[in-house]
Amino acid sequence: MIKRPKISIVGAGNVGATAAHWAAAAELGDIVLVDIVEGVPQGKGLDLMEATPVVGKDSYVRGTNRYEETAGSDVVIVTAGLARKPGMSRTDLLVKNAEIVGQVAENVARFSPEAIVIVVSNPLDVMAYVAMKKTGFPRERIVGMAGILDTARYRAFIAMELNVSVEDISALVLGGHGDSMVPLPRYTSIGGIPLEQWLPQEKIDAIVQRTRDGGIEIVNYLKTGSAFYAPSAAAVQMAEAILKDKKRVLPCSVCLQGEYGLSDVFVGVPVVLGKGGVEKVLEIELTEAERDALRTSAAHVHESIAQLT
Ligand code: NAI
Ligand code: 2OP
Repeated sequence: MIKRPKISIVGAGNVGATAAHWAAAAELGDIVLVDIVEGVPQGKGLDLMEATPVVGKDSYVRGTNRYEETAGSDVVIVTAGLARKPGMSRTDLLVKNAEIVGQVAENVARFSPEAIVIVVSNPLDVMAYVAMKKTGFPRERIVGMAGILDTARYRAFIAMELNVSVEDISALVLGGHGDSMVPLPRYTSIGGIPLEQWLPQEKIDAIVQRTRDGGIEIVNYLKTGSAFYAPSAAAVQMAEAILKDKKRVLPCSVCLQGEYGLSDVFVGVPVVLGKGGVEKVLEIELTEAERDALRTSAAHVHESIAQLT
């Protein structure tokens, strides 16, 4: 009998529940939603399970407050934590979310020692570091979701500006998930044609800035929370790459070990994502300015990690 993959999603809030939705719709496997709030994961899990006959998808979805039910997960997506509110920086979330992610990571290591962990909770790169330290997992099995979201925002803004298909836009955003992220117009093309041939520099600069502000733009609209459709879609794309061993080349936050001259820090770079998790960290050619921007971004992540120790 073929065993379906098991995906646990910790945090049944906006990002977690929507990730369960995307994952069930894609029939990626059976899904366990976990949260500390009594009733919420159970209710959302059952509601999603009851949607599966309508959409004709065989994913068994359930919710729980107990980690025992996550045992033996292939992939765990960590979305537990507090979300940003207006006026709140990602760094404000640091200490509280480190506590939460630390507890979650200990439970993941205990019940799913072979899992690959996709971290979503903010501040992202620091929470991925906390998850790696608390699980004791090798760097290949702890991967942070940010670059796909930041790149997707950048691609969406370019598509909106040029009135072309989002599918034809290939782009890359590196660095930490924060104000110092590093969108790379030099590595952006539309149907293979470089971005500079489509747009004047001032338009490119405006799109780059809007990408950096992409998270707060949604927070300012929503007022009571932060983005969740695109973030959850991005996390599920990573889960799919792992579970189907697709070997996708995607920007993800990984613990660098000498690449780009950086060590012991999570930062967004292109990687090959497959059944082993991060199967390869790709070191691309950067100009001096791009390399400096990446180092500055990594230095911000380092500073936040230092605040926790
Ligand atoms: P939310 O507030 O809707 O959901 C968070 C859930 O975590 C809540 O249901 C809460 O009860 C649960 N939770 C809190 N402590 C927990 C614990 N110890 N164990 C299990 N569950 C626990 O927030 P939302 O919008 O789902 O965001 C979740 C996290 O993801 C936030 O930290 C947010 O900043 C981050 N985020 C990161 C993005 C990225 O690009 N990396 C993008 C969007 C959100
Ligand atoms: C975002 O970029 C809040 O980090 C989250 O939407």
